[in-house]
Amino acid sequence: MAPTLASRPRLLVLLGLALIGLSRTAPAMAADTVALSVDASRTGAKIDRNIFGQFAEHLGHGVYGGIWVGPESTIPNTRGIRNDVVAALKALKVPNVRWPGGCFADEYHWRKGVGRRAVTLNPNWGGVTEPNSFGTHEFMDFLGQIGSEAYVSINVGSGTPQEAAEWLEYMTAAQPTTLAQERAANGHAAPWPVAYLGIGNESWDCGGNMTPDYYLSQLKRYSRFVRNFDPGQQQDPRRMLKIAVGPGGDGPRWTEWTETIMKAWQSHSWSWDIDGLSMHNYTVVKWPPAYKSVGFGETEYGEILEATLEMDRLIATHSAIMDRYDPQKRVALVVDEWGAWYAPLPGSNPGFLVQQNSLRDAILAALNLNTFARHADRVRMANIAQMINVLQAMILTDEGRMVLTPTYHVFRMYVPFQDATFVPVTLDAGTYAHGDVRLPRADAIAAKDKAGRLWLAVTNLDANRPVSIEASVAGIAPKSAAGETLTAPRVDSVNTFEAPDTVAPKPISAKVHGGTVALTLEPKSVTVLSVEP
Ligand code: AHR
Repeated sequence: MAPTLASRPRLLVLLGLALIGLSRTAPAMAADTVALSVDASRTGAKIDRNIFGQFAEHLGHGVYGGIWVGPESTIPNTRGIRNDVVAALKALKVPNVRWPGGCFADEYHWRKGVGRRAVTLNPNWGGVTEPNSFGTHEFMDFLGQIGSEAYVSINVGSGTPQEAAEWLEYMTAAQPTTLAQERAANGHAAPWPVAYLGIGNESWDCGGNMTPDYYLSQLKRYSRFVRNFDPGQQQDPRRMLKIAVGPGGDGPRWTEWTETIMKAWQSHSWSWDIDGLSMHNYTVVKWPPAYKSVGFGETEYGEILEATLEMDRLIATHSAIMDRYDPQKRVALVVDEWGAWYAPLPGSNPGFLVQQNSLRDAILAALNLNTFARHADRVRMANIAQMINVLQAMILTDEGRMVLTPTYHVFRMYVPFQDATFVPVTLDAGTYAHGDVRLPRADAIAAKDKAGRLWLAVTNLDANRPVSIEASVAGIAPKSAAGETLTAPRVDSVNTFEAPDTVAPKPISAKVHGGTVALTLEPKSVTVLSVEP
């Protein structure tokens, strides 16, 4: 993975321009009231539900303990999968789950996780034993229980095209091949759909330290030979989408990687193809990760948010390269690892990447989801790292206990944006300044759902000042507006097993008069509203 660094001089110029813009539009408004305008008839790209994807790697307690407790556990479970976690994830309408890694994927040999299990090691993540009790059947069962689709990452680093091809045959073949019969003997006669296939993971680093050209030659072989036989997917225009390894950050090393893959793709032959290019970008100001996930102040709050806003520039950089080779945007940019990466919690195994999740992470999540939505024409899939107990998790567990994180609440509040149509928003709330950090004071996106409702998500980044918004809404005649807002007493407020609702959404309603929706956003808050016609 590669750290992102904020570019402060550029931000200062942008904020200066924004302030000039504000001084031109401000006079008509009451003091400190901010104008937002949105025209529901001006629609853009679909916000693909897949940008709300999750990532579950065999890492720490991400799978074992987090999802899988085994059928004999006293923790309530269905065929070994925890019931509390399933119920919580169902509310997120998780569109896809990337599995089994991460770096783990390039050392994963699927046969050890079907039938009689082999106990192996997990050298990437703490060197612990890997029981392989959560394998293909358990993953597919888990997807069925939460109602999600499979994003399977195949082993390019230490596997072979044959091994990966056989895994896909095992999962997807309906005809009575030996592998399909083995699947049936192991308890699943019908083939499973595999919606997304990741061809390697970070092949420039933990996935094999490959050069772009070497990876490209591997990509062509895997794309050619790793087939999906699921009859249900053969006639489906959304047949299994193949996702190539893409860039891991900023700078020439990464633009060269994107150039190499996209240039080759432009003149690809019938025998290989891709539908997506992956990009990994964590919010980590120092490497190795040093920022604390709890017990920090406003300075660290500002610095982390400043760093996370780099996502926009990174997407723009790689999208511009993709546009040159793929102006019709057939290949999606898939941000399949993103989120905050902090220092491991004291006392935890450093290889398990355990961190707390605070109000700061909720705001960080909203800002990234807004960025993906603004790039919805190219960014059609993203996977936060990671789903449970690892990095910026939705859920933390400890034996039989479970707590929902602030990030979970943002993902739940944003569900209406899944597959909604992007609607541009104009908002200039000025600047939130703390120390050396200068950030936009507020950020907003809007979208229209299939029922014709307009959804508005507004984040107040300012840790201290509320923002009063007057939104002028065109394209629909608003009658009422209500939703939820998420904030907490401190920027580092967290939910714990003992106090699970310190950061929890509460209802909010706005005043609607004429075509205007007025509401006040609390400091450091995320708000999602539906505007009803
Ligand atoms: O998410 C943790 C790790 O970060 C993944 O295994 C790897 O792909 C990335 O470097």
